[in-house]
Amino acid sequence: MKIWAVANQKGGVGKTTTSVALAGLLADVGKRVLIVDLDPHGSMTSYFGYNPDNLERTGFELFQHGGQVPDGLAAQLLQKTSHPRIALLPASTALATLERQTPGKSGLGLVISKTLAQLWNDFDHVLIDSPPLLGVLMVNALAACQQLVVPVQTEFLAVQGLERMVHTLTMINRSRRQALPYLIVPTLFDRRSQASLSTLKLLRDRHKEHIWPAYIPTDGRLRDASRAGLVPSQFDPGCRGVIAYRALLKSLLARQPGQPA
Ligand SMILES: Nc1ncnc2c1ncn2[C@@H]1O[C@H](COP(=O)(O)OP(=O)(O)O)[C@@H](O)[C@H]1O
Ligand SMILES: [Mg+2]
Repeated sequence: MKIWAVANQKGGVGKTTTSVALAGLLADVGKRVLIVDLDPHGSMTSYFGYNPDNLERTGFELFQHGGQVPDGLAAQLLQKTSHPRIALLPASTALATLERQTPGKSGLGLVISKTLAQLWNDFDHVLIDSPPLLGVLMVNALAACQQLVVPVQTEFLAVQGLERMVHTLTMINRSRRQALPYLIVPTLFDRRSQASLSTLKLLRDRHKEHIWPAYIPTDGRLRDASRAGLVPSQFDPGCRGVIAYRALLKSLLARQPGQPA
């Protein structure tokens, strides 16, 4: 099972869109995909038509057992999506209450790792949509994943958010056996915008080794897909956004040598 997290300590940079687009492309080629919504806003949960304010059972339950995950609980929480091969572990807005706890003290840092261990044979690939705050949930996402995708909107304010995220990673990597590989992905790129062009250049200068050499363009079809509750590749397989995400997926898969896609 491959586990990737999508994170950035800033909202509106394309985390949810990236998670759903990559999940869709993997599912299209026959992979059994699990998407995990760890953002208390529950955007990914809403994307597929569930209301994070009133779902009876959500990922929140996983954190109610002192850091252990009771046998079989993970599977009970899964929901269907509009794609037959994508299952959703939905978020609840109640997840926000976890963010106030100190990750080290709570003993809750490995809840998602334990959850995924229970589902190891049921899925080929997992994508975790992370919250924009460094708290228990982000720590869980980073501890559970094998690779991190960091979408960054190509506008000036987003660059600061990226620096924060890279700093967080440096801290987290001190307590990991192996440094977590990450790929910075420029998003919402608009060729006609001076801000987009200069931010892209700045990102490439500062993060040479970790930046994906291409970018995800601004494409209204991605927004339309979310409105329709469909993964972008089902909604419009030929649109520019999907073409870019297909190239991104290829790069991400190539970064884990020795494992079959
Ligand atoms: N490449 C893109 N082109 C056009 N709209 C996009 C693109 N990526 C994201 N969006 C839209 O921008 C908004 C924020 O994106 P989202 O993925 O929800 O960001 P985050 O999860 O980081 O908060 C959403 O309305 C989404 O549909
Ligand atoms: Mg989001």
